[in-house]
Amino acid sequence: MTEAPTAGPDLFEIIRTTRSMRRLKPDPIPDALIDQVLEAGVCAANGGNAQSWRFLVIQDPSIKAAVAVWYRRGWHEVTAPRYRAAGPPSGASPERFARMLAAAEHLADHLHEAPVWIVPCLTGEVTRTSGASIYPAVQNMLLAARALGLGCTLTTVHLRFENEAEAALGLPENVHSYALLPLGYPSGRFGPVRRATLADVVFRDRWGEV
Ligand SMILES: Cc1cc2nc3c(=O)[nH]c(=O)nc-3n(C[C@H](O)[C@H](O)[C@H](O)COP(=O)(O)O)c2cc1C
Repeated sequence: MTEAPTAGPDLFEIIRTTRSMRRLKPDPIPDALIDQVLEAGVCAANGGNAQSWRFLVIQDPSIKAAVAVWYRRGWHEVTAPRYRAAGPPSGASPERFARMLAAAEHLADHLHEAPVWIVPCLTGEVTRTSGASIYPAVQNMLLAARALGLGCTLTTVHLRFENEAEAALGLPENVHSYALLPLGYPSGRFGPVRRATLADVVFRDRWGEV
């Protein structure tokens, strides 16, 4: 029997409006919603269906505070200076770039205030393809969060101080984090992502041919 279509925003509309939401309210998120996001994560493709992923859900303020120290240092000492030196990427106006930096800086300084973090991890050796078995789950969770009205951003700045941040996260030796997803109700509004057109990034049959 064909299933009736479910209500709610269209998947493509969700995809088009899943942008980084870095200004979050500290209001708590119901456990049922956190679980819905995690359920979306574990639906993702992963190599051999080995499911060697683990998802650390962090709400403990003391753990968030300890990890956020390393994120903040990663942002202020490494990532922000590099972005500022490089200037706006092609296609981004100086104003838009400045807004992105301001939002990213806000997140760096307020990360610990996000009510929930999800830290997607993989057990075992890190290889060039490892991330392919966790980032589909990350994207599913970003989309699910958006569909539920929750703001989120894929972040990796804590990995600038990987050893220190993972020690603060309490990860065992054979486990590594691949992102840190701060979740919360957004202060701002969801809006469309801004990307280059297909003509700018897609080649047909032969490299360089549009
Ligand atoms: C691999 C990866 C790492 C990222 N790391 C961070 C991060 O550490 N902090 C942050 O604020 N945003 C981070 N982002 C978000 C990007 O900056 C963002 O996706 C990009 O600027 C496009 O903006 P949009 O998501 O709002 O469309 C990361 C995104 C990706 C894909």
